[in-house]
Amino acid sequence: MPLKEKITLTHLRNARRDNTKLPILTCYDFSTARLMQEAGVPAILVGDSASNVILGHDTTLPISLDFLIDITAAVRRGAPLALLIGDMPFGSYQASSEQALLNTFRMIKSTNCDAVKFEATDEHAPLVRALSAAGVAVVCHLGLRPQAVNALGGYRSQGKTADEAKKIVALSLLMEQSGAAAILLEAVPPEVANAVIEVCSVPVIGCGAGPACHASVIVTHDGLGLTKNQPRFVPALADIATPLREAFARYVSDLTSGKYPAPQHNYTMPAEEQTKLRAWLSNVARASRP
Ligand code: KIV
Repeated sequence: MPLKEKITLTHLRNARRDNTKLPILTCYDFSTARLMQEAGVPAILVGDSASNVILGHDTTLPISLDFLIDITAAVRRGAPLALLIGDMPFGSYQASSEQALLNTFRMIKSTNCDAVKFEATDEHAPLVRALSAAGVAVVCHLGLRPQAVNALGGYRSQGKTADEAKKIVALSLLMEQSGAAAILLEAVPPEVANAVIEVCSVPVIGCGAGPACHASVIVTHDGLGLTKNQPRFVPALADIATPLREAFARYVSDLTSGKYPAPQHNYTMPAEEQTKLRAWLSNVARASRP
């Protein structure tokens, strides 16, 4: 069912209150965003995972703020009703609070997103406080933080020991107390999400964090079979790689075999114009003969 009303943070909060689930998908372009709104996807994250699935990098580190702003604005044009979360890329919010605030305001003003997400550590509590004081809805991304891949020593699930879990719970609480609108937990056992839900009162978005979360987000390209490897928590929504590959191969074969373009693909020139063109051509051809 297509979206009929604007989805806001209230819908996410209501998912927690009413024990319902808010689906979120990542999206990186106008056309797909339009389809998502038509399909009734209530919330969209324009994640820095675009660095991997759109730009082909191994990590999320290289993507620029300018690029993310451009594609977030494109997604907004395609899905004006969805709750749109813009992602702050590596390097756009770590240098100083001033840099983080100015870049976040730029993201919001240029894209009209409803919320921003960044990967949070203890150090970001003052930033979350400043942003929420300015009226910004902030989603704090904890657990596996892909922008810290080098410090973490690879893409590994987090919070598998009680000590690690306690740190994630404490950080979630600190972010909530600093004004975070929601917590996003990536790649943690359900026990960690359950503990965060018990301790915090803001909605918890899971990305491989078990069934108790109030919302769920996956990288759409993983769910559609467009990536080489998918994390274990990703549902197989469709295999669109096979029909895409077949369609590309059909174009190659139709063009090279002469099947395409066929008469129905051609624009028509009125018969009298064809006659005039042929007459002009034969004059030109005669004049150019030695
Ligand atoms: O960038 C992204 O797509 C994300 C999700 C994996 C949560 O941060």
